[in-house]
Amino acid sequence: MGGQRCGVALALLGVLLLGAGRLPRRAEASEIALPQGSGITVFIKPGTPALPVKPCYIINSKRHKTTLTIKSGEKEIFSFSCQDPENHFVIDIQKNIDCMAGPCPFGEVQLQPSTSTLPTLNRTFIWDVRAHKSIGLELQFAPPRLRQIGPGESCPDGVTHSISGRIDATAVKIGTFCSNGTVSRIKMQEGVKMALHLPWFHNRNISGFSIANRSSIKRLCIIESVFEGEGSATLMSANYPDGFPEDELMTWQFVIPAHLRASVSFLRFNVSNCEKKEERVEYYIPGSTTNPEVFRLQDKQPGNMAGNFNLSLQGCDQDAQNPGILRLQFQVLVQHPQNESNKIYLVDLSNEQAMSLTIEPRPIKLSRKFVPGCFVCLESRTCSTNLTLTAGSKHKISFLCDNLTRLWINAEKTISCLDHRNCRRRPYSLQVPVDILQLPVQLHDFSWKLLVPKDKLSLALVPSQKLQQHTQEKFCNTSFSYLVASAVPGQDLYFGSFCPGGSIEQIQVKQNISVTLRTFAPNFQQEVSRQGLTVSFIPYFKEEGVFTVTPDTKSKVYLRSPNWDRGLPSLTSVSWNISVPSNQVACLTFLKERTGVVCQTGRAFMIIQEQRSKAEEIFSLEDEVLPKPSFHHHSFWVNISNCSPVSGKQLDLFFWVLLTPRTVDLTVVIIAVVGGGALLLFALGFIICFVKKNRKKKKTKGPPVGIYNGNVNTQLPMQSKKFPKGRKDSESHVYAVIDDTMVYGHLLQDSNGSFLQPEVDTYRPFQGPTGDCPPSPPAICSRAPTVKLATDEPPLGIPAESESEPYTFSHPNNRDTDIPLLDTHEPEEPTE
Ligand SMILES: *[C@@H]1O[C@H](CO)[C@@H](O)[C@H](O)[C@H]1NC(C)=O
Ligand SMILES: *[C@@H]1O[C@H](CO)[C@@H](O)[C@H](O)[C@H]1NC(C)=O
Ligand SMILES: *[C@@H]1O[C@H](CO)[C@@H](O)[C@H](O)[C@H]1NC(C)=O
Ligand SMILES: *[C@@H]1O[C@H](CO)[C@@H](O)[C@H](O)[C@H]1NC(C)=O
Ligand SMILES: *[C@@H]1O[C@H](CO)[C@@H](O)[C@H](O)[C@H]1NC(C)=O
Ligand SMILES: *[C@@H]1O[C@H](CO)[C@@H](O)[C@H](O)[C@H]1NC(C)=O
Ligand SMILES: *[C@@H]1O[C@H](CO)[C@@H](O)[C@H](O)[C@H]1NC(C)=O
Ligand SMILES: *[C@@H]1O[C@H](CO)[C@@H](O)[C@H](O)[C@H]1NC(C)=O
Ligand SMILES: *[C@@H]1O[C@H](CO)[C@@H](O)[C@H](O)[C@H]1NC(C)=O
Ligand SMILES: *[C@@H]1O[C@H](CO)[C@@H](O)[C@H](O)[C@H]1NC(C)=O
Ligand SMILES: *[C@@H]1O[C@H](CO)[C@@H](O)[C@H](O)[C@H]1NC(C)=O
Ligand SMILES: *[C@@H]1O[C@H](CO)[C@@H](O)[C@H](O)[C@H]1NC(C)=O
Repeated sequence: MGGQRCGVALALLGVLLLGAGRLPRRAEASEIALPQGSGITVFIKPGTPALPVKPCYIINSKRHKTTLTIKSGEKEIFSFSCQDPENHFVIDIQKNIDCMAGPCPFGEVQLQPSTSTLPTLNRTFIWDVRAHKSIGLELQFAPPRLRQIGPGESCPDGVTHSISGRIDATAVKIGTFCSNGTVSRIKMQEGVKMALHLPWFHNRNISGFSIANRSSIKRLCIIESVFEGEGSATLMSANYPDGFPEDELMTWQFVIPAHLRASVSFLRFNVSNCEKKEERVEYYIPGSTTNPEVFRLQDKQPGNMAGNFNLSLQGCDQDAQNPGILRLQFQVLVQHPQNESNKIYLVDLSNEQAMSLTIEPRPIKLSRKFVPGCFVCLESRTCSTNLTLTAGSKHKISFLCDNLTRLWINAEKTISCLDHRNCRRRPYSLQVPVDILQLPVQLHDFSWKLLVPKDKLSLALVPSQKLQQHTQEKFCNTSFSYLVASAVPGQDLYFGSFCPGGSIEQIQVKQNISVTLRTFAPNFQQEVSRQGLTVSFIPYFKEEGVFTVTPDTKSKVYLRSPNWDRGLPSLTSVSWNISVPSNQVACLTFLKERTGVVCQTGRAFMIIQEQRSKAEEIFSLEDEVLPKPSFHHHSFWVNISNCSPVSGKQLDLFFWVLLTPRTVDLTVVIIAVVGGGALLLFALGFIICFVKKNRKKKKTKGPPVGIYNGNVNTQLPMQSKKFPKGRKDSESHVYAVIDDTMVYGHLLQDSNGSFLQPEVDTYRPFQGPTGDCPPSPPAICSRAPTVKLATDEPPLGIPAESESEPYTFSHPNNRDTDIPLLDTHEPEEPTE
């Protein structure tokens, strides 16, 4: 390029001018030479002067001109007739790049010819790149990147970038941008036209961008914005404020630092009249389960998004008669998360073992409503939607979430006693660790898996506040409940849901269970002091569960059998130990007339036994109507044993117990209990309670025949010394026997097995205090000792009142006698 001298002079002049506050300049000659094949054309033409000015001309080849065109391969020398040509003329430098004809010059884009050789006029460098539709062209802008401006806006330094694309032959304006913004890349296909406008006084000598080729982007364009800190960006749909091209797709990508959050708001928009398809915006939001999130332009747009996201505008097929206009101007605001997010919470699980804690999104109903990202961050660095903390270390967590109620915590802890000798320490307290309670996220479930060796130990749960069973008739209104379920693989057994504030003092279960504290309301935090459950490992017993119930006066206790609605599992047995204090009388009422069970094999029956007198009633649950309301003056057992029912004809038992002072006239009780409406019925019940000739215990002479469900052992493990009074009851241990001959051979075999082979577990069935064991139908072979042990005499070979447990383990070294057993009180001696 020639004109070196002139150029230097001009540049010097420019510097002088800038330094001297725009003194009038002398007209200097310029020379522009364009290399052959450069594809560059230079136009010098009248601009749009701000003020009315005197005429000025381009002097070229000694002629006055108002425009001058210099084509590729040409050279022109020219000057201006006035001293302020920048107020009259502008210069456009257009370069055509045809990537379809030859190789495309990718990379850094140069200002060519160099700005120093150009006259000091407003300059517009235009690069017009044409490419195949299948080629994506990417403009990359180095920092300080670009900022889009709307119609009527201007850039503070006068430098503007106007970018447009092409759909077939039609030009599409992508936008006008100033320096210093967030837009880092613009991807287009089929071609791009970039116009860089530099005002005459701007000494910028670089283009500030490069071009790269990319694979097809399959849409009009993609605009990438990179945020390095807090800030905002206003962006517009193509052609704004004119209509977005029909049926087109445009995408904005946003790169957001991990510690910040982005919110989108639509500042202005219009929608067109769609004939086909729907105009919409679609988001890809990290952490959203429903990507792409689709919104109408009228919807409230997402906020508080953490992580990079993208947003696409999709047009429609417009009505040709009345197309309307689709346009959108929106803002992305990136800021530090407000609220919780800067807080760091320490969760110390270093002293825990076999515990894990997961903070995860609550399941939500899928809807078109917006779901912003909601993250849990470890050490404020790695954020994820679902974080699991493991035992054995301390964790520092924080939250990046607009609404923490969208998260919840689930935790699981395993407490196992795999060798029963190791579990003789004090009972374990089941409490939610304080570190979890201090988190700003609601605890959903805290599950304790309580594991014991098979057939060696059982479990006793003693709540710090007596529990109520959740039933339809009396539901738990507390913010949390304990859900107790079997944790034996393959055993589908749910004991129920229990909350504080009831009458259940203890729940004993045969084997592995899970106890889950589930919260139902955020106010669990206020009720947290009501939690508390102690688990002890107790000698093994064979019933599925035993519920110890001490009702409060004048408040109905509703109880129902485990697995309610699905039926008690086959061949299992459950008992309720119901205390009746002296001076009180309990009314036991079954809510249904029948249980509905139909047995395939075995029999299903219920035994109601007075603990003091041992008086028993046995009811077949299959064909008999359940007993009418009955009154009990002493503590009693309700025991049910299931058969193997026909599917769909399950055993569900539901009853309530009501205590009333014994002094109260029974008629009043009945009225109180039942209400006038059913007076007649219950008067009948009353009569039955007291007059009915029950099938009470009978000592039979010959070998008794009892009913027995094979895997049911109803003798509870008891430490004999704890129940000295019980042992005095000489009426005890007389078991009911049904006169009817009911022999169920296959079941008896089972019973024989478990009762006659004590090498597995030394079973000393009836040494324990009488009346403190749930009633059980006797097995044939255990019949005789039952009667014997009913006396105060200790049975042969078993030391009376010894330290030995009535129920011992097969394991030999059983020296310790301080196995935590049931934390029970002495049975009250009824006084009359
Ligand atoms: C040159 O550009 C500036 C700002 O970009 C503008 O104000 C001025 O009118 C332009 N000059 C001409 C002659 O168009
Ligand atoms: C870019 O813009 C920011 C504010 O928007 C301003 O503080 C900064 O000085 C600008 N930088 C340049 C090079 O103009
Ligand atoms: C642009 O100008 C700077 C000085 O302002 C100079 O150092 C640089 O080499 C120039 N670049 C080009 C491409 O002319
Ligand atoms: C970019 O262009 C080169 C040749 O010009 C080609 O080899 C390469 O495949 C292209 N890349 C993409 C992503 O199209
Ligand atoms: C665009 O929408 C605005 C409201 O958002 C409305 O006032 C205006 O009339 C609309 N313009 C057109 C051309 O539809
Ligand atoms: C938008 O983001 C999603 C998820 O990150 C990605 O799969 C998709 O390719 C992105 N689309 C565009 C056009 O950037
Ligand atoms: C926290 O966010 C909620 C809504 O998201 C808002 O109502 C509340 O004022 C915020 N609190 C603080 C301290 O910023
Ligand atoms: C969270 O992660 C845990 C453990 O990987 C998984 O069990 C749980 O289903 C996950 N939750 C969600 C909502 O994805
Ligand atoms: C937070 O989310 C919950 C449900 O996840 C919703 O019920 C509640 O309205 C939300 N609160 C706010 C302030 O958005
Ligand atoms: C209870 O869990 C322990 C430990 O996993 C296991 O050894 C035992 O067999 C389980 N008991 C039953 C009845 O499955
Ligand atoms: C729950 O119910 C009991 C009575 O059953 C009542 O005393 C108590 O106030 C209730 N609590 C709440 C939180 O409603
Ligand atoms: C039955 O309940 C009473 C009262 O809570 C208790 O003293 C007794 O030990 C319980 N019996 C058994 C076998 O759990």
